[in-house]
Amino acid sequence: MKMIGTEKMRVEDCEWFKDFVRMADDGYRMGWHERNGGNLSYRIKDREAKEVSDSFNASVWKPVGAQVPELAGEYFLITGTGKYFRNICIRPSDTLGIIEINPEGDSYRTVWGYVNGAEPTSELPTHLLNHQVKKRVSGGTYRVVYHAHPENIIALTFILPLSDEVFTRELWGMMTECPIVFPAGIGVVPWMVPGGSEIGLKTCELMEKYDAAVWAHHGMFATGVDFDLTFGLMHTIEKSAAILLKQMSTGRERLSAIDQDQFKELAERFRVTLDDRFIDQGLTERI
Ligand code: 13P
Ligand code: ZN
Repeated sequence: MKMIGTEKMRVEDCEWFKDFVRMADDGYRMGWHERNGGNLSYRIKDREAKEVSDSFNASVWKPVGAQVPELAGEYFLITGTGKYFRNICIRPSDTLGIIEINPEGDSYRTVWGYVNGAEPTSELPTHLLNHQVKKRVSGGTYRVVYHAHPENIIALTFILPLSDEVFTRELWGMMTECPIVFPAGIGVVPWMVPGGSEIGLKTCELMEKYDAAVWAHHGMFATGVDFDLTFGLMHTIEKSAAILLKQMSTGRERLSAIDQDQFKELAERFRVTLDDRFIDQGLTERI
């Protein structure tokens, strides 16, 4: 990994590391990470990994629990299992680690962090499967996968039908900027046991077309090019869910809403393509 002429840095001093820690702390302050809830991963750029490679100390290879050949040789900064988001900013090398994926794409080894013996998040298969899909469909630009437990989106999974169409249509309809922030819509995964490859495979199937997927009665996954966009996506969807719940809690009928023609105007003005599946029918026909 050593490169003559490449300046060596401490992991903790790198901008991408500081941005990761700040995003984790922001998520905690939003109330999305009770106890050890949620996890975050970043696909480190080659140049960034080279700058810190002097700090790497490789441990033994362990199975990922999924096949990720398109991530062979990649390095990820990723939260540890059982770690609390509220501690990331004060104990980063305890709560976070950097892992390397083997050439076959079926195993990983820790090269930095987890100083008190932790392992990567139990959602490692879902994170890596999502990274694999997003790397492919984005031409390599997507680098962040984020899982959180925001309360309003979770609450909606008890009262809305668990379909991509209903969730997208409803959340788009709550705030004018929503269809611009997530024009492809969002996916919904029915309740499944977390922490394995089965839920990871179901989620990454949705990530082929969406940037976010709701896990019924559990939380949400968001993906993006960088920390700002990924955090912003989670924030926007959760805020929209909060408005929907507030509006429903009044028990009053809607007197107005964004209609189909207005969605089309929005799409034209902001040059986004909105799938007709999500705008052709109003809420009342769908539920
Ligand atoms: P970890 O502590 O293993 O990251 O699990 C938290 C979580 O949210 C599982 O879905
Ligand atoms: Zn979770």
